[in-house]
Amino acid sequence: MTIENVMVIGAGQMGSGIAQVCAQAGFNVTLNDMKEEAYNRGIQGITKNLSRDVEKGRKTEEEKEGILGRITKSLDLNDAKNADIVIEAAVENMDVKHSIFKTLDAAAPEHAILATNTSSLPITEIAAATNRPERVIGMHFMNPVPVMQLVEIIRGLATTDEVYTAVEDMTTKLGKTPVEVQDFPGFVSNRILMPMINEAIFTLQEGVASKEAIDSVMKLGMNHPMGPLTLADFIGLDTCLYIMEILYEGFGDSKYRPSPLLRKYVAAGWLGKKTGRGFYDYS
Ligand code: NAI
Repeated sequence: MTIENVMVIGAGQMGSGIAQVCAQAGFNVTLNDMKEEAYNRGIQGITKNLSRDVEKGRKTEEEKEGILGRITKSLDLNDAKNADIVIEAAVENMDVKHSIFKTLDAAAPEHAILATNTSSLPITEIAAATNRPERVIGMHFMNPVPVMQLVEIIRGLATTDEVYTAVEDMTTKLGKTPVEVQDFPGFVSNRILMPMINEAIFTLQEGVASKEAIDSVMKLGMNHPMGPLTLADFIGLDTCLYIMEILYEGFGDSKYRPSPLLRKYVAAGWLGKKTGRGFYDYS
């Protein structure tokens, strides 16, 4: 199947990045948000990224205008009527995703693939809201989308090989590297990353070492670009806790128990960089 027209739902941090890389690769992109201000912020972000590329000589002004010209504004999910693939990047909430996928299922052409950028919700459960579970798939981009190489492609229980291959080809056209993953809690990325972060928080909680020491061990000893506690602050401690809860519940295994210290920070509203305070102080 040929993919030419892409619709992206949600013009936030991830959706705007996904729209940018799709337009850069020559796809026609319809970028949708329920809020006009959010759409405008998304387009501003894309314009800023592209202008920086022009300044640095990575793109010409003409290429920048061409990319922006391939992005069309949408405030209505029914605009999915022309899409070959829809990539949903709205909020991480199953009820919201179910409602979006129901509407898209009714609005999009029969051949259209419905993909979700969820970082933790089961693809199979999202697919169950539609009458085309075989055409629903996970396409998990990493943040920041224009920079990061990986896309985890998650097969739901019913996803067909044809749909998987089409999404894999598209990912390669975006200049990214696809990795095939089955639908289990946390997929691969968060199943490995989050327990590592959680263990770092337990290590801090037990007084084994200071936060700086824990981060130094992983940076200097393991060559990680950033220590786990710093990374947790960047991701958002609420997001880290939320994903640990999904692993804990999904596997029913105590090895995924969220650290009580992580719970305490979230309860205090110390969510990391975005609130000015997490393990470190950003004020
Ligand atoms: P965000 O909060 O920056 O953007 C979400 C956007 O979706 C907002 O502009 C909001 O107005 C819009 N939206 C909400 N409900 C909508 C609806 N019914 N129809 C249309 N638009 C709607 O969120 P972010 O960070 O971009 O995350 C989006 C998705 O990507 C989530 O599922 C998240 O788990 C996933 N994700 C996030 C990553 C991250 O590092 N932030 C990494 C990988 C995946």
